Amino acid sequence: MTEAPSRLTLRRPDDWHVHLRDGAMLQAVLPATARVFARAIVMPNLKPPVTTVEAALAYRERILSALPDGAQFTPLMTAYLTDDLDPAVLEKGFRAGVFTAAKLYPANATTNSAAGVTNLDTIAPVLERMEALGMPLLIHGEVTDSAIDIFDREAVFIERHLIPLRERYSGLKVVLEHITTAQAVDYVSGRSPLLAATITPHHLHLNRNAMFAGGLRSDFYCLPVVKRETHRRALVKAATSGEPCFFLGTDSAPHPRAGKESACGCAGIFNALHALESYAAVFEREEALHQLEAFASEFGPRFYGLPLNSGTVTLERTPLDVPARLVGPFPPSADEGPLPDDQAPVLFHGGDTLPWRITAISSVAQTGIA
Ligand code: NCD
Ligand code: ZN
Repeated sequence: MTEAPSRLTLRRPDDWHVHLRDGAMLQAVLPATARVFARAIVMPNLKPPVTTVEAALAYRERILSALPDGAQFTPLMTAYLTDDLDPAVLEKGFRAGVFTAAKLYPANATTNSAAGVTNLDTIAPVLERMEALGMPLLIHGEVTDSAIDIFDREAVFIERHLIPLRERYSGLKVVLEHITTAQAVDYVSGRSPLLAATITPHHLHLNRNAMFAGGLRSDFYCLPVVKRETHRRALVKAATSGEPCFFLGTDSAPHPRAGKESACGCAGIFNALHALESYAAVFEREEALHQLEAFASEFGPRFYGLPLNSGTVTLERTPLDVPARLVGPFPPSADEGPLPDDQAPVLFHGGDTLPWRITAISSVAQTGIA
């Protein structure tokens, strides 16, 4: 048995699923993602959603201008599919390098998805075009049928929609986002170079008891909702397996505290501040730290056909105390004041101690690191 390492240097990672929001929330949360991740797939579920090339360009500009000085970060934009999105718009945005992918939200499946797709047949021309272009389809894989138990909605989506969709569009590149079940792991595992899944840190840490531990805990409510322990175990196994179809996507989804802690609390967990450290804790518990770099920094770019990053992130095994709430941009900047208390998003792992912390980040290639 070899001694566990106390220091780990990884190629700089990317986040293949993040919600950066807009306005003051964007200002507050963007630095956390941009500090660690070199690129991120930015979700388009703004209000109104990002459905045009112009809207994506304008959003990308707002992200770039909210970046802290010296940040090395590339936002990769996505289009929000609606029933009537013109395939020509997608093609134009994809060919211009504005849209990296398109996101399919079944209508009303999650936060800001009311304008999503009501029926997959309606968007057949869009899916045919994406297949022809090699443009990835990113899927929120849950049915919205109120007769289906919320804990079964992902598994039913795979059977009812994903399997037929992949049969019909066999050349379409698909990412099943933020998977939460053993059924999703089984379906994606080893199936095709055209099929992958992202896995969040919170679905690796939590089972559904977390939402009810000592009371009703909106901090642990997200969609797809966290599932039974058997599913969490299947996700941990998949993430640490070294299988290239499973890669990092945080689904960091900040909401103002007042939105989470209300009679009808919003779905979404904000984990961007210490996402990499959170994954490292899981990989260490699995004795799989040697698989972390591939999961975080290699499998995603390979699937998307993008170059690997050249910088590095160094983690050390020194306990990290996580604050309860994000009160301002991180690292704090001189010109941004703290968010008002009821607007500050609750942090995943807030108040806990994580075993690994980031001690160095370099956006250029480093040589000679032990
Ligand atoms: C996301 C959000 O808040 O935008 N919420 C969530 O629970 N994950 C939307 C989503 O990804 O489903
Ligand atoms: Zn999401």
